[in-house]
Amino acid sequence: MNAPTLDVYLKPNEMAEALRADVRTGLVAKPKCLPPKWFYDARGSELFEQITTLPEYYPTRTEHQLLERYSSEIAELTQTEILVELGSGSSEKTKRLLSAGVEHGTLHTYVPQDVSISALEGATEHIAEVFPGLTVHGVVSDFTESLHHLPGDGRRTVVFLGGTLGNMVADERSEFLSGIADVLSTGEHLVLGVGLVTDADVLVRAYDDSAGVTAAFNKNVLRVLNDSLGADFPIDEFRHVALWDAENAWIEMRLEATRDLDVQIADLDMSVSFAAGEQLRTEISAKFTIDGIRAELANAGFEMQRSWTDLDERFALISAVLS
Ligand code: SAH
Ligand code: AVI
Repeated sequence: MNAPTLDVYLKPNEMAEALRADVRTGLVAKPKCLPPKWFYDARGSELFEQITTLPEYYPTRTEHQLLERYSSEIAELTQTEILVELGSGSSEKTKRLLSAGVEHGTLHTYVPQDVSISALEGATEHIAEVFPGLTVHGVVSDFTESLHHLPGDGRRTVVFLGGTLGNMVADERSEFLSGIADVLSTGEHLVLGVGLVTDADVLVRAYDDSAGVTAAFNKNVLRVLNDSLGADFPIDEFRHVALWDAENAWIEMRLEATRDLDVQIADLDMSVSFAAGEQLRTEISAKFTIDGIRAELANAGFEMQRSWTDLDERFALISAVLS
């Protein structure tokens, strides 16, 4: 087996500075908001993995089934030599694509990329063990800033699974997809997994599970602020809120102050007040239609070649080519 390598393009001091900047802006915004990438310290990445096994959280298992069924077809369509996965997390589902690429005889390199170093360390070790013939080259970076680090010595497919595209608003998605198009060459592929608009009850349950794991994941961001910035958020005084915004076609996760609160953020010399009932937006999770995602891809220069959905049409795998 080739030992996996890990390149860190996001140094701890840059991460810390980015967090400080996001907190300075987000907690004075009206309404208050934070970007979702701060969920994913080691504890947050672990909680996300727990979410993927919850009965209510259908996206992961649905996408897994689609990957089981269609990975060979994807390998045939894309002829991938280098598979670059953005926001790869545990890389668990990706094993289907990797197996298919290896069996197809084209795939030689896997480049998982994530902001979470703990998730990447575990995933690169595991994938290198399971696929001893693959070169595994992990990249710790922010996928909104660092696509120029992608390797270029073979036919590439960029993979973005799990519905993570939905954690961006439309303008961010447009910039992100165009950024991928800028670094790929004509004929190279983008494989996307996206959640589809479905029944509101099903959606809300997926983001407000009965075991409270999603609530713990949501509140983890406050613990990240307490630990990294010397803040004193009283975590138990916040309530997890998940609601479906039909107009924007997204789930919104928020943290609601259960009483008036004054929070000190020592490292920023900042104090933040919450009125009872005030909410901090921590994540959106947009859901798509096939026509909508086709149009977003086309705007960025991609032609959607194929899409596959489950029978309930809750999730889609999409293969697009740069035209
Ligand atoms: N692709 C996996 C994980 C999805 S969870 C799956 O489908 O199960 C979202 C992942 O994206 C997490 O691992 C998180 O650390 C990563 N992530 C979130 N924002 C990011 C950013 N701005 N840059 C890089 N990775 C990010
Ligand atoms: C990573 N992302 C696609 C997940 C989602 O469904 O939006 C994160 C998540 N948030 C709550 N549960 C899962």
